[in-house]
Amino acid sequence: MSLLLEKIDKKNLPRHIAIIMDGNGRWAKEKGEDRLFGHFHGVESVRDIVEGSAELGIEYLTLYAFSTENWDRPEYEVIGLMELLVSTIRKEVESLNKNNIRLHVIGDMSMLPEYAKKELDEALEFTKSNTGLNLIMALSYSGRWELLNAVKNIAYEVKQGKLNVEAIDQNTLQHYLCTSEFPDPELMIRTSGEYRISNFLLYQLAYAELYFTNVRWPDFRKENLYEALLDYQNRERRFGKTSDQVVTG
Ligand code: IPE
Ligand code: IPE
Ligand code: MG
Repeated sequence: MSLLLEKIDKKNLPRHIAIIMDGNGRWAKEKGEDRLFGHFHGVESVRDIVEGSAELGIEYLTLYAFSTENWDRPEYEVIGLMELLVSTIRKEVESLNKNNIRLHVIGDMSMLPEYAKKELDEALEFTKSNTGLNLIMALSYSGRWELLNAVKNIAYEVKQGKLNVEAIDQNTLQHYLCTSEFPDPELMIRTSGEYRISNFLLYQLAYAELYFTNVRWPDFRKENLYEALLDYQNRERRFGKTSDQVVTG
């Protein structure tokens, strides 16, 4: 067994890990290859990290695969990514089922091409009774899009008289986010040495522990996940309180 894995305290794992899978393009460029080559290899990392998370008993894993801003990339890259998404889902859906993994998607699905939407819908349906790891793909997602959407829907309900303004609280807002069924991530990992959030779960990451690594996404494997988890387990999560309060409970 991996030495790092042995060191992990299995009773202090995050329930929800969120990852910004970054660095595919640079990884490929460094090898003299096209950016799509990097995305292609990034799928191997996805497979490994999903497997590693399931083995650890992590309940929720959110992977940022495509942001609303990524639509502005060169057309060939966007099309390449969509095709990769569809072929990957088609290939992996059986093994998701075998491993009791339930697929979810968050994001502006209306932006996706019809063939991608169809493939996704089928995979969501196919895995919906699974009770193990919840694998949440953030696709055509951005935190600002999500918040705007929530605000609009809340306003609509108020206008229709279904919701009272005075009754709106944080639970109401939470209910209108696309992550309403999931707990907030305790740990957010970003690969490839970039230190920013890039419009990822802006609301949900309020108290997440952030972990940054220089490793490019196509090189990120279970061992790297274990390193992140060990780092997480050395943090003191204070939630606004003092260290003394947290230690003595
Ligand atoms: C992350 O890798 C994957 C997506 C955003 C789809 P990038 O494609 O951003 O790779 P870099 O950051 O250019 O190296
Ligand atoms: C963030 O990566 C989005 C995903 C990983 C899907 P980007 O590579 O698009 O982020 P920026 O543009 O460098 O901030
Ligand atoms: Mg990038």
